[in-house]
Amino acid sequence: MEIVVSGIRPTGDLHLGNYFGALRNFLKMQHENNCYFFIADYHSLTTHPTPEDLHGNVKRVLVNYLAAGLDPEAACVYIQSDVPQIAELYLLLNMNAYVGELERVASFKEKIRRQPDNVNAGLLTYPTLMAADIIIHRAHKVPVGKDQEQHLEMTRNFVNRFNRMYKVDYFPEPTAYNFGEELIKIPGLDGSTKMSKSDNENSCLYLGDSQEAIRKKLKRAVTDQGPTEPNQPKPQAIENIFNIMKAVSSVDTYNHFSDLYNNCQIRYGDMKAQLAEDVIIFTNPFREKIAELTADTEYLRKVARIGAEKARESASKTVKEVREIIGFKSF
Ligand code: ADP
Ligand code: TRP
Repeated sequence: MEIVVSGIRPTGDLHLGNYFGALRNFLKMQHENNCYFFIADYHSLTTHPTPEDLHGNVKRVLVNYLAAGLDPEAACVYIQSDVPQIAELYLLLNMNAYVGELERVASFKEKIRRQPDNVNAGLLTYPTLMAADIIIHRAHKVPVGKDQEQHLEMTRNFVNRFNRMYKVDYFPEPTAYNFGEELIKIPGLDGSTKMSKSDNENSCLYLGDSQEAIRKKLKRAVTDQGPTEPNQPKPQAIENIFNIMKAVSSVDTYNHFSDLYNNCQIRYGDMKAQLAEDVIIFTNPFREKIAELTADTEYLRKVARIGAEKARESASKTVKEVREIIGFKSF
């Protein structure tokens, strides 16, 4: 049986990009594999250091996970900071991670640009913490969106270095995974190629957005004057609306608007109104579940406790074995 690990940082509610890029994969994999899905709250401190946000955001992500259908009876659902063994493995991995290679990671360079006043060491070592998350359960597959590919490559480097250095075949090489498909990137409503809450809140459609919010955001979504000649290639912002439609609407609806575009008869107002209704239908079940689960603190507490126990069991075993491999011995 394959071991699967993935996580999402608790920096706010989950959007359609998180759903199609990551969550949907978790859901498809949870019954056939040995799955660990966690909330990366240590990671969130690299960009969201304020205590006020932390617990609320962890709760929101947990609620979103469960509302989307993550089954805590099938998969181990836990909060990263409940498993301190991850921090120990992170420390050990950092001893064999080079500053040069960490400085070259695209997400680090981007964070320097985005938060020049807070270039903390956690940002630099983000890939070693992420590697620790993955290899703490000796995972094979990591369901994530396309933006995480480089982090997975780093994880494989650390794994190979560890195995080589200690002459063992202990950690498997994990790969980024999308259930039977290419890795996915859902674009934003603002014309950007990635729906991302860190880039632009307004580019996102959240699983728990109200119907009014969805209609309003789609009304404002970036478009242009429309094509002037038949069968023109689509500009980025238009391509984005079509791609979101591809994810949530029926094939017929998509083809209908695609034909209109190709005949220069498209009215973006109509297309966006249709897309808003389809997003609403798509998110209806989430919205209801989110409200229900948010009120059930007792249940959330139970899920987190059981998940933490199971994750710690697997994590302690790995850390114990790693300590032996590295050569720590008790007197
Ligand atoms: P954000 O970029 O909004 O801050 P996160 O970095 O927390 O989102 O992403 C959590 C997970 O969701 C990761 O696996 C990431 O690859 C995936 N993801 C985020 N945005 C998208 C997107 N627009 N399309 C596909 N996957 C995405
Ligand atoms: N870096 C991931 C993101 O930004 C979150 C994450 C942290 C993660 N640790 C992980 C994903 C381990 C998969 C496996 O979305």
